Amino acid sequence: KKKYDYLIVGSGLYGSVFAHEAIKRGKKCLIIDKRNHVGGNVYCEKIEDINVHKYGAHIFHTNDKDIWDYVNSFVEFNRYTNSPLANYKGQLYNLPFNMNTFYQLWGVKTPNEAREIIKSQIDQALITVPSNLQEQALSLVGKDIYEKLIKGYTEKQWGRPANELPAFIIKRLPVRFTYDNNYFNDKYQGIPIGGYNKLIDGLLGDCEVKTGADFFENRADWTAMAEHVIFTGNIDQFYGYQFGRLEYRSLRFEHEIVNEENHQGNAVVNYTERNIPYTRIIEHKHFEFGTQPKTVVTKEFPEDWTPEKEAYYPINDKHNNALFEKYKSLSKKEKNVIFGGRLATYQYYDMHQIIGSALKATATHFNSTN
Ligand code: FDA
Repeated sequence: KKKYDYLIVGSGLYGSVFAHEAIKRGKKCLIIDKRNHVGGNVYCEKIEDINVHKYGAHIFHTNDKDIWDYVNSFVEFNRYTNSPLANYKGQLYNLPFNMNTFYQLWGVKTPNEAREIIKSQIDQALITVPSNLQEQALSLVGKDIYEKLIKGYTEKQWGRPANELPAFIIKRLPVRFTYDNNYFNDKYQGIPIGGYNKLIDGLLGDCEVKTGADFFENRADWTAMAEHVIFTGNIDQFYGYQFGRLEYRSLRFEHEIVNEENHQGNAVVNYTERNIPYTRIIEHKHFEFGTQPKTVVTKEFPEDWTPEKEAYYPINDKHNNALFEKYKSLSKKEKNVIFGGRLATYQYYDMHQIIGSALKATATHFNSTN
């Protein structure tokens, strides 16, 4: 018998939930991560006593009561509500698009006035079948919202002009005819009190952990240690990139300590002009209603991805999806490896979806293995 029942590669939410569920069922697990910390992309670093979201702002939200109860069983969540602002040429607009935004754009005060303007701008766009992202957005919300609040931001995100981007990137653009700045429609949302590391620590409990350990540097040895491998890294790397590399968009973060108590008055401010190189500024303390004497702000710059950079957003176009399907069909043949999480499934998932998929995978797996 091997030393461990499960070797879990990657200590993000997927790996950590898997570890928790396995240990709960009396299994022996080792979780490894190539980074020098656990938690994957939800990891926070304390700077000036503020939890700084090192890999981008993370706001937990879900409609699923079971998932909400699950995370709250490890750490209590606060009442943080995401209500980002957009800064376009020095003017501030509320997001998501709602009556406050429409008042700021056009001075209208009633839903009927707002609906009328949006409808007339959609009609003026004269688009029947949108052939690119620009046309898609114009046909959904009209010129003003598109040009001031969508165009520049999206072009920075994807590094290409909006009329060269595929329409499918934007499926819907919800507009809300109430004065409600709550970004999410979900029943539950918040930030773990004390930060996301508490959630990860709660999940891992006393699971054996090894950080700074890359699966591929010692693949044969790691594999020999355990009956099963749970793999949450890049699926193309697992198969030696034999069909080619899956592509991503990356991000660069510039963190700065500012010597004032409150810098921008909100956790998230988007910059929607094309010629400002960052897409948003995050002021982390506001996620936790912090009152520390200083503050930490982070500018987020979208970047082209190259293999030495962090892979943040999969580019789910036809080419990459077809490539992924090839890797996926290889993975289906594995007997003792389970693939899960955002990198192994080449899909953007929010945290609650990753937790849901890990719980589903463990339920199925442990039902079949007793
Ligand atoms: P994750 O990437 O967290 O973990 C994978 C781990 O595997 C990493 O720690 C990595 O180091 C490790 N690993 C990879 N290869 C390895 C190897 N060869 N050997 C050892 N270890 C290896 N969601 C949400 O609900 N609300 C939000 O506000 C946001 N915000 C957000 C912002 C940004 C910029 C991004 C990119 C994403 C979000 N998300 C989000 C999504 C959220 O980050 C995501 O759902 C989870 O972090 C995914 O968890 P995983 O465990 O799948 O991957």
